[in-house]
Amino acid sequence: MKVLVTVRLPAEVLSLIAREHQVESYDADPPLERHKLLQGVADKEGLLCTITDRIDSEVLERGPALKIIANYGVGFEHIEVAAATRKGIPVTNTPGVLTDATADLAFALILATARRVVEGDRRVRAGQFQYWAPLLFLGQEVSGKTLGIIGLGRIGQAVARRAAGFGMKIIYHSRTPLAPAAGQELQAAAVPLETLLREADFVTLHIPLTPQTRHLIGSRELELMKPTAYLINTSRGPVVDEAALVAALQREQIRGAGLDVYEREPQLAPGLADLDNVVLLPHLGSATVETRTRMAVMAAENLLAGLRGDPPPNCLNWTELQGKK
Ligand code: DGY
Repeated sequence: MKVLVTVRLPAEVLSLIAREHQVESYDADPPLERHKLLQGVADKEGLLCTITDRIDSEVLERGPALKIIANYGVGFEHIEVAAATRKGIPVTNTPGVLTDATADLAFALILATARRVVEGDRRVRAGQFQYWAPLLFLGQEVSGKTLGIIGLGRIGQAVARRAAGFGMKIIYHSRTPLAPAAGQELQAAAVPLETLLREADFVTLHIPLTPQTRHLIGSRELELMKPTAYLINTSRGPVVDEAALVAALQREQIRGAGLDVYEREPQLAPGLADLDNVVLLPHLGSATVETRTRMAVMAAENLLAGLRGDPPPNCLNWTELQGKK
């Protein structure tokens, strides 16, 4: 069968697919242009795509033979899954394999913001490290502080485990509260969102982007946070009203933010890049060699299963598709 791969995959993973199918693969880093995506799907049974490809009804119309859409990545808000379901097409993602890498990065942002790591690096490079003094360049202690986790799924829980090593008190707000035993293992207490925002020294976001979570953190929520608190976002940019965040940071209404994702990625809200109290990363959550390789293998396995007509291992709409039969 014919397959369109819109991302650069490791050669050994691409050959897994090419052994069985005819692959058209896009071998460059900038996102595949829309018109090439639309042209590319025209005669394909398989599509392996990623966050930078918008897979909407138009793409589905242009790819009438599609049998499987395998996303390289766990987040899938760029895919109209309901429209794919209506056309009988399974959609898959890559959950689990990026949990630790993303939790590590959330923790890197917690430490980098609180201890002013990036700002310090900038000072040294600018030749401004002239002497040591007791009151210079003070940050905030992370150990022993309160961590507020919004979304205690796989990644949120992995962040909680790391926080335990720092002796942090963990509070969380989640759609589905943990079973008591799991909550006990993580020493995490479920609290209402408002309580979390008022009490946490670090608020970290680990929720998918849905209509309900868009702008979950806006000016009202930022006002509830402590003036000494930090906001960490490694989930999806639009979960935070970025203009409201810039205003809050400019007014020093909260102490800082660590962001890996942006509302209009890769664009930044005006003023964000001028602030010293933010650490800004280019969507690196899953960016380790090990994790990106596992994601590629998982996406390829999902794709191959779909092309064989087998239930793909990580199918997002399998139950719905069965219900249609
Ligand atoms: C994910 O897997 O969702 C990453 O954010 C990249 O899309």
